[in-house]
Amino acid sequence: MNILHIDSSPRGATSHSRKMTAELVASLEQTHSNAGVTYRDLGHQPPPFVTEDWQNGAYTPEEQRTPAQSAALEYSDAAIAELLAADIVVIGAPMYNLTVSADLKAWLDQIIRINKTFTADYKGLAEGKKAFVVTASGGGGYGAGEPMEKINFQDPYLRTAFGFIGITDVEFIHVNNTAKGDEAVSESVAGARALIHTATLSSVV
Ligand SMILES: Cc1cc2nc3c(=O)[nH]c(=O)nc-3n(C[C@H](O)[C@H](O)[C@H](O)COP(=O)(O)O)c2cc1C
Repeated sequence: MNILHIDSSPRGATSHSRKMTAELVASLEQTHSNAGVTYRDLGHQPPPFVTEDWQNGAYTPEEQRTPAQSAALEYSDAAIAELLAADIVVIGAPMYNLTVSADLKAWLDQIIRINKTFTADYKGLAEGKKAFVVTASGGGGYGAGEPMEKINFQDPYLRTAFGFIGITDVEFIHVNNTAKGDEAVSESVAGARALIHTATLSSVV
């Protein structure tokens, strides 16, 4: 069983999403004794942005690409291979300006690629995986039925983007109110830990 573990906070030890993805992956590893983990730290090693060579290369058969186009697609090729090899994907996602960080968006731009993870008639090619998204946000109230739900462009975007490539089994774990003091953070982390426990159990197939 392969786990792809992705962090995208530029922070280190103080990052709440990092702490929680680490706990979730450790918990999954305990449950799945045969688990192998591949790790990508997008917060500290940001993916490259898509370029003209990247785009032209993506629409050109591999054997006809220029060396510059092949080079531009190297990161994407490697990131897609990691994604396709994974059974479970764990993603740490800080909320930045109501959606994902630029680093995570850059990774999504690298892995959502025609003929690799979706077809021209919009069939997802990365099916059969489970994704856990651990978000961290300074504020709160972004959940279903809550006052800020309508301005939460992070959860719906990630659910739709993963669904587009065939990953429809997406579970969210939220650490909210990280900017609201120790008590609020403790409460939020406790809630996330409870969900991690349930999520780990639900990952047993
Ligand atoms: C550039 C930037 C934008 C942010 N935008 C939001 C936001 O829209 N809503 C929110 O609740 N918190 C926002 N925050 C706070 C972060 O979501 C919060 O610090 C979170 O804990 C970051 O995740 P991390 O702890 O894993 O680094 C923002 C922080 C930064 C640095």
